[in-house]
Amino acid sequence: MMMKVAFLWILIIAASLALEANGDATKYTAMYVFGDSLTDAGNNKYFIDSIAKADHLPYGIDFSGGPTGRFSNGKILVDFIAEMVGLPLLPSYADVVAKGDSILFGVNYASAAAGILRDTGYQFGRVIPFEEQINNLRKTLGQLRGQLHENEVSKYLANALVFVDIGANDYFNNYLQAEYYPSSHIYNLEQFADLLMTLYRKHILEIQGLGLRKFLILEASPIGCAPITIHNMKCNATLNHIVAMFNTRLKSVVHDLKSNHPGSTFSYAPSFQIFTSLFDNAEAYGFKVKDSACCGGRDGSNGTKPRCSKDTVICPNRNEYLFWDAAHATEAGNRILAALLRNTTSF
Ligand SMILES: *[C@@H]1O[C@H](CO)[C@@H](O)[C@H](O)[C@H]1NC(C)=O
Ligand SMILES: *[C@@H]1O[C@H](CO)[C@@H](O)[C@H](O)[C@H]1NC(C)=O
Ligand SMILES: *[C@@H]1O[C@H](CO)[C@@H](O)[C@H](O)[C@H]1NC(C)=O
Repeated sequence: MMMKVAFLWILIIAASLALEANGDATKYTAMYVFGDSLTDAGNNKYFIDSIAKADHLPYGIDFSGGPTGRFSNGKILVDFIAEMVGLPLLPSYADVVAKGDSILFGVNYASAAAGILRDTGYQFGRVIPFEEQINNLRKTLGQLRGQLHENEVSKYLANALVFVDIGANDYFNNYLQAEYYPSSHIYNLEQFADLLMTLYRKHILEIQGLGLRKFLILEASPIGCAPITIHNMKCNATLNHIVAMFNTRLKSVVHDLKSNHPGSTFSYAPSFQIFTSLFDNAEAYGFKVKDSACCGGRDGSNGTKPRCSKDTVICPNRNEYLFWDAAHATEAGNRILAALLRNTTSF
């Protein structure tokens, strides 16, 4: 315990010195991450009643140490973002609880299949909705307070980055699945987007209420541009339009948060456009295949089963594929996405 306190102190001092020295290399003390399968680093893997898990090969085939629960062959977007801001790879909250992984640099709470609404993704079994991800953050902060003085915690949290990428599943694993979920019978698309925004804003303010001050908020991803939805090399415009309705509102929510909370910073990442432009120009970025997954090809969407399974034969050159499975990018794709994000967003 004492060792940990001393260690954390050294980190905080080192981080603030680095910040003063060049203002860039070590920008943040820690990072706290919320999201879905694009961001999950293993939170669903201990749930025996979940099928939204990527805890087996060939997932993680290019990740040091093998499968972790990340939905890719290697690193995911948030791993590259952590690297860019001078932080190590973050542990999943589940591994903090199960294995005592260190919380010093932050924690990843994202859960595959989850969304903003509590019932989103339930057809895959147990998932962790946004609200519950925030409850898990509360537990981490309780743990931090056991190790540090309250003043130190405030400073530490004020200099931590919050990464949020959530919302696409509220369409893909909720609104658009009328046989499982009532939402499309209750709300039209405008009302549904408004409902999601009310909750989104509330949750961001809850996180802020816990002492976090720096936010990086990503647009919901273009669900029409994935091997399961691509048709004749083209993204499904209907699906993308639906998500764009969410993003338009998200942009104005972030704008509002900026004007009403001057003590905090809110960066809006146009990740929807970034991804569609990467998709449109995939060849220029070195991808030979963009409409089919390295693992599972084009029709990996077999009912509600995992899309890339233990015995799926994978493509020989993973760097030539934009998609690893029918819904998630390869490490090569994620690396370019992160670079494009850095070039368009200040965080
Ligand atoms: C796009 O997705 C919608 C909703 O799932 C579907 O009804 C439509 O047929 C798709 N369009 C194409 C061109 O695949
Ligand atoms: C989809 O599932 C059916 C029934 O379980 C199976 O026969 C078929 O081979 C599967 N297709 C793919 C592409 O995995
Ligand atoms: C990001 O910007 C840098 C500097 O302008 C450029 O060298 C790099 O190619 C850009 N990255 C991408 C992926 O466009």
